[in-house]
Order: sequence, then structure tokens, then C-alpha cells
Amino acid sequence: MFETDPMPAARLLAWYDVFARDLPWRTPPGSQGTPDPYRVWLSEIMLQQTTVAAVRPYFAHFTARWSDVGALAAADDDAVMAAWAGLGYYARARNLLACARAVAARGGFPDTEEELRALPGVGAYTAAAIAAIAFGRRAVVVDANVERVVSRLFGIEEPLPKSRPVIRAATDAITPDARAGDFAQAMMDLGAGVCTPKTPYCLECPLHAGCRGREQSIAADLPRKLPKKPRPDRRGTAFFAVHGGDVLLVRRAGRGMLGGMWALPDDGWAAGCDGDGMPPFPADWTAVDGIVEHGFTHFALSLSVQETQVATRQNLPDAQWWPIDRIADAGLPTLFAKAARLALGQKDNHGQQGNQGQQAEFE
Ligand code: ADE
Repeated sequence: MFETDPMPAARLLAWYDVFARDLPWRTPPGSQGTPDPYRVWLSEIMLQQTTVAAVRPYFAHFTARWSDVGALAAADDDAVMAAWAGLGYYARARNLLACARAVAARGGFPDTEEELRALPGVGAYTAAAIAAIAFGRRAVVVDANVERVVSRLFGIEEPLPKSRPVIRAATDAITPDARAGDFAQAMMDLGAGVCTPKTPYCLECPLHAGCRGREQSIAADLPRKLPKKPRPDRRGTAFFAVHGGDVLLVRRAGRGMLGGMWALPDDGWAAGCDGDGMPPFPADWTAVDGIVEHGFTHFALSLSVQETQVATRQNLPDAQWWPIDRIADAGLPTLFAKAARLALGQKDNHGQQGNQGQQAEFE
């Protein structure tokens, strides 16, 4: 469908040799030594749907604590889930552990796209990225940055997601046999820093000659996207039950929203329905002032918080009483960390009580 053209790759790699971002999971451009597959895999899982800036501290923490795949495979599930808290999309953390254990059991990472694809949590994009970056295999790596760059370079006007097969074919046509990992990361860097979503810096772009989007003055409008469905608003309640210096936490059901994470009890809100307002047990509950606003991928949640002091500890299944003065170490997902701060009357980092802003944590 697209003529193979080695020129964009050559120009892009020359640009990458000078402008590559220095990222902790990378080896410098063109380096002979191959990067550590563990670090490449971990970074790619963390970077799914998440920015480089958000990932950096988590990557540093994980690699300091679990320095190779064997160490991560042997880790306690709760410790890994707690270390992931705040990064969002918690199914990734569950799959991360399952994948580490599968890789440790087989004695190391496989080095083909097909075998990588069979691992838990490794989809088509991630398998291609690891094969190219960690093992130098030619693979067609298409993430959102690459979709933007390629749509513009080839002037692809059909909207996403229908244009995906065309974008993939076009990416295939410009992917070189050599330096496949550098090429993939160069495309990502170009998308992140030059061919940016709103205002592409075409004068700085190594691919500006022959870029159809630029020639036709439509680069900033590409890729076109079908209009998104509006996100519904949902309401729910979280419950802050205190006994002595401890607060009641419950473990959320394994496969659902924020699954497997420790959380405050809540009233069963979900993507498809509001919560029913029912507390986990009858008590003298009072409403905390304020509301927590939190963005999820498919809906926006307004979470009220109710609090109570109990004289005796309720013994609920999958629950624990956690010291309030160590609440920051409980591994609560951001939504519940915000709810706990509201209940404790702590200001968040927007200087307001509760959180009016939305942090980049989605599920
Ligand atoms: N996003 C996903 N993978 C990446 C990588 N290896 N470098 C920069 N951004 C990325």
C-alpha cells in the first residue's frame, strides 16, 4: 500500500543521535550493548496510558526495590500493589506480577514478538516495543505518538480508530531493518517533543521535507478522530470508620475497578451506576464537608465521604484496621487517598480541601 522509503528512517535516526531523551530505561542511541529486557518491559508496562513524567518516580522505586525479574516474581503481592498505588490502571499491576512469575519460571524473557505477546499484560504494541527496544528485532511499533507522526507524514485524513490499519501499513513502510529500537523510540520522541498534538514545530522536524500534513497545512488537525462520547457523571460515597488511631480499610474485589487494591469501604458506585449510599455497617455516620472529584476513563466520579467513630471493631471479610498516622503508606489508589485527606481535613496540593482538580490516574 505504501512504498518502502528508507529516507525518513535515516533522517530520523540522525536526529535521534543528537536529540534522544535521556530516560532511565534507555541505552544511549546506537549503543552496542543491549538494554536490560526487565527494565524495558517494566517501563513499557508503566508507560501504557501514562506519561513519562508520572512514570519516572515509580520506575526508580521499582528498580531500586526489585532489581530484576526474579526479585519482582518473588515479591509479596500486597507490596507490589501498594508500590503501584497512584499510577492507575491497576490491572497492569496484577498482570505485572503474573508476567514476572511467568518469565522467571521460563528462565528469562522471550525475544520474539509472538512469544512476548503471549505473556500476561503484554499486548500487540508492548510486544512490538520490547522486541525492538530490548532485542533489536524489526517490529512495527505504533503508539499514540507514532499514530500522530505517521498520520501527518502521510497526510492520512481518515479518522481514528478506522485509520489504524493504514497507519500501521505506513509505519511498516518506513521502519528500518537495523536500529529498530532506536527508530521506535525516535518516533516517540519526535511525537512527544516536535510533532506535538496542538502545535507541531515543523521547522525543527527532521521529517518536514515530504511531510504531506505540513505541505497541505493540515498537520495540526491530524490525526482526525471520531467525536468522543461524553463521559457520564457518577456519584458515590466512601466511608471513613475510625477506632482509636486506626481506620477501616477493605480489599477491593480482584477483577473490578481498582481491583485488588486496599481502599476505604464504599457504596458500590461503578462505571454504569451511582452508589446506593449504603454504609458497610450501621453506625452514627456523618457527612464530611466537601466532595472528591475524580476522572476515570469512561466516567467522572463525585465521591462524598461519611465518617464515624466506632466503640468496637467490626470484623468484616477482607478488611484491616490501619494506623491513620501511616495512611500515606497504605497503598491507597489516588481516589481513596483523596477521600482520606478530605476526612482528615488535610489540604491537598491544590491548596483546597479535598481535590477539585483531577490527577492523571485512570482505570
Ligand atoms: N512511551 C512508551 N514507550 C516509550 C519509550 N520507550 N520511550 C519514551 N516514551 C515511551
